Amino acid sequence: MERSAAKARIEELVALLRENSRRYYVENAPTMSDYEFDTLMHELERLEAEWPEFKLADSPTQRVGSDLQKGFVQRPHRYPMLSLANTYSISEVEEFAARAEKTLEAGFSYCCELKFDGTAICLTYRDGKLYRALTRGDGVKGDDITENAKRISNIPHTLKGDFPADFEIRGEVLMPYSAFDALNAEREDAGEPPFANPRNAASGSLKLLDREEVARRGLICTLYHIPAQSGLEFQSHDEALSAAESWGLPVSHERRVVHSIGEIKEYIDHWDTQRKFLPFATDGIVIKINEMSFQRALGFTAKVPRWAVAYKFKAEQALTPILSIDYQVGRTGAVTPVANLQPVQLSGTVVKRATLVNADQMAALDIHEGDWVYVEKGGEIIPKITAVEPSKRRPGAVRPAFPAVCPDCGTPLVREEDEAKWFCPNSDGCPMQIKGELLHFTGRKAMNILAGEATVEQLYNLGLARTPADLYDLSLSQLLTLDGWKEKSARRFRASLEASLDVPFDRVLFALGIRFVGETTAREIAVHFGSIEAVAAAGREELLAVPDVGEVIADSILAWFADQRHTIEIERLRAHGLRFAMGEAQAAASDALAGKTIVVSGVFSVSRDAMKDLISKHGGKNSGSVSGKTSFLLAGENPGPEKLRKCEELGVPILSEEAFMALLPEDAAEAPEPRLFDDEPTLF
Ligand code: IVH
Repeated sequence: MERSAAKARIEELVALLRENSRRYYVENAPTMSDYEFDTLMHELERLEAEWPEFKLADSPTQRVGSDLQKGFVQRPHRYPMLSLANTYSISEVEEFAARAEKTLEAGFSYCCELKFDGTAICLTYRDGKLYRALTRGDGVKGDDITENAKRISNIPHTLKGDFPADFEIRGEVLMPYSAFDALNAEREDAGEPPFANPRNAASGSLKLLDREEVARRGLICTLYHIPAQSGLEFQSHDEALSAAESWGLPVSHERRVVHSIGEIKEYIDHWDTQRKFLPFATDGIVIKINEMSFQRALGFTAKVPRWAVAYKFKAEQALTPILSIDYQVGRTGAVTPVANLQPVQLSGTVVKRATLVNADQMAALDIHEGDWVYVEKGGEIIPKITAVEPSKRRPGAVRPAFPAVCPDCGTPLVREEDEAKWFCPNSDGCPMQIKGELLHFTGRKAMNILAGEATVEQLYNLGLARTPADLYDLSLSQLLTLDGWKEKSARRFRASLEASLDVPFDRVLFALGIRFVGETTAREIAVHFGSIEAVAAAGREELLAVPDVGEVIADSILAWFADQRHTIEIERLRAHGLRFAMGEAQAAASDALAGKTIVVSGVFSVSRDAMKDLISKHGGKNSGSVSGKTSFLLAGENPGPEKLRKCEELGVPILSEEAFMALLPEDAAEAPEPRLFDDEPTLF
């Protein structure tokens, strides 16, 4: 590969992996399958090894993804919480074992375990009492979810036996399939989007602010790692887990201590089939060097231990014929082809439909009518078609014609040059788009109004709701005249409208459904501008100064506010009492940085986003580029040379992470512990 092509591909991979990491860890809604994600990560690792000059200090290959979320106190981990090196190839497991045999003295063993597919947790017990529970966070700091952990039935609040006075233990929180199915059934009844898989459901549930709801979710925990810590003298990992069990902690009985690659392969083969009968999700096998002395000798890289490897199972595939293709219109007008399949069993559920993504993807797969296709479950709840089986194609089968007009309203479809999708441009007349907008507005993460698909459909069909403001016009007596509405349901609906008046401005902004303005971006914009007037008045440059806002988002916001229908809608909603400015309730944690415009650059002990959040929380303004208005540059390791040069030129002060933390009130400035990486012999 040529130099410039390698640089471009590295940049592209970094952007793709970061975006999916955020979706995976923060939104619990990844758009890539694990296999796609891991394959891209491995490609980036290879390119960075070949072209080290293009490797970023904060490349996704160097850091674990971050699950940090607003609403929780963040605390430093005593020992960094790392990830695992993973592979889909048995020959790489063989290489791991061969290197271990070469590097280590005789007498070592392996501990083989299941790789649990949930969300990581770190528990601290002091004097036998559960003292603290943290999520993995960005590996250095985690969200404090102690109260939620106390509501997971098999996490003991008090230990028994001969436990150490103060120790940490780590593991995974899982949602068993039975609890997952029940939760999704409930959500669908309530018109809420179902979770894509038990892993997303587990991490979403662990981050709920309502503790009693956490208790209802049926989560379980399994523990698999006691970090080597002073005062705990175990000979082996297996012995440490047995001790943990004797103190009353939940550990897995499926682990096996083995002595050869042959036995490792037997374990893998056994669980490749048997895992389908487990009551919870697993996505592979973890092989750990068992002896603590050998683990210590091997140490860690910045991201993973060198004494362990995860062998991951590829997603299951099924082969089935396409019966027909529907073209669905989303709230933005985008048309998505969806295949109706002959129902087929896949990873414990029956699959009847699968997305074909867009016209290009249909062409790339070379889909013909009636084709037999391979389906796989990716990150999304809708399975994906990954390939066609050409040997089963019917003679004379033709390629399906992508519709030229909207299947819902008949308007000719359009496709912009840089768009992958065809769009129905009839945004104010196309029923699917209008209903989609209403559902987005009422959604749980937006205004949380009790109106699911059926209600929206009914109100739309009766001509009672065309825009969100129409919902607030519906009176109790009017609702009671409608089919199926009783006093109780009408009152609950009205109460949810009433409650939505307290929804903070950032969520209102998200609810408006401006294209590309997701929850996080809406929050950034709301904090940055403070009110809808300021957002509406902002020019392109001002919008681009908001972290996360690029040209596409800025243009979409400008276009949205330029549409008079939207200004009228905002005025109607305002008359109903919705919040269009940041209110008291969202006041900053302190005003230590009020009036300061700060540019962040380089690598910090926490993620850069966490630093930016800290700035917003303390009243500061984030900016992407150094100018005369910049109060100071907050510089971590390896800050951008161009930014440093600009600071010098303009006389803008440069602050280190430490100096910056000193500006914040004491409790906010709890400095993260230094990383504890040891860079000794390597197995990878
Ligand atoms: S050991 C220092 N053991 O998989 C390494 N992790 O993809 C500690 N996981 O971050 C991790 N099952 O959340 C370990 N038996 C197991 C595991 C396991 C699942 C998770 C863990 C880790 C992730 C890496």
